[in-house]
Amino acid sequence: MTIDLASRKVDLWTAAMVPDPDLYDVAARVSTIPDTAAAVLRFANSAYVGAVYPVGTVLEAVIRVGSRSVGALAMASLNRELVDTWGAPELWEESLVVGRAAKLIGRLHGTSRTESEHLFVAGLFSCAGTAGLYMEDEGYLPWRRKQWARGISDKDLLRREKMAYGVDHVEKASQLLDEWNLPTDIIATIASHHDPVTETDARLWAAMTSLFDDSKARCHNTTFRTAMEKIGLGEHVSFVETEARLFADVTIESFSTEALPPWDAPREV
Ligand SMILES: [Fe+2]
Repeated sequence: MTIDLASRKVDLWTAAMVPDPDLYDVAARVSTIPDTAAAVLRFANSAYVGAVYPVGTVLEAVIRVGSRSVGALAMASLNRELVDTWGAPELWEESLVVGRAAKLIGRLHGTSRTESEHLFVAGLFSCAGTAGLYMEDEGYLPWRRKQWARGISDKDLLRREKMAYGVDHVEKASQLLDEWNLPTDIIATIASHHDPVTETDARLWAAMTSLFDDSKARCHNTTFRTAMEKIGLGEHVSFVETEARLFADVTIESFSTEALPPWDAPREV
């Protein structure tokens, strides 16, 4: 994973999220990123989007799935590669679930579509600090679980992380995401998850709180379902998990195409 490729994915996401995006421009950007082009084609030819006939070009695929899904797939594949780079691939599925659930909660709280997409990406990369500290010390996750099992407060956890690693997971997330050129507003949202500053932060934080709690609950071996039920969203568990699984399936290289209509290799538009 190079910074250049990461930047191209971030730029694609930015171009895909503007109101009334230029789909030719979006498709041209997708065509320069092979794994994202493959993911977009897989998604466009999947039963999920009701594909009745296969599409073979990136432009057709972009038109079929819409620019927001294209941007989301680019960021999901970037996240996939970064958790691998950070040596914490096991955080991948949880990241997707957190991202999808963040978006859903945003929508249920009445956030705009743009804010909800922002929540998706913030949720997706909310694991960056954890991954970063895990990269430095393989014992970090069991250590953190032990701290929570003792009922430690978030503030104390941050303080102890700083003592142990020189940075806490919030600072570590900002450092890493900045290094990989993630948008500054996404970094700011993630950085504010323990301490919202602006009204937007507070609004986004309100939607995300339950997710970080959920993330924590998973470390306590509480199921995602239990955590979602606790915040009154039990009926949406399978929706979130299905969508997260779908994103994982179309994003990972080993995805089986058996169930899908045939599709051509990505072509220039
Ligand atoms: Fe946190």
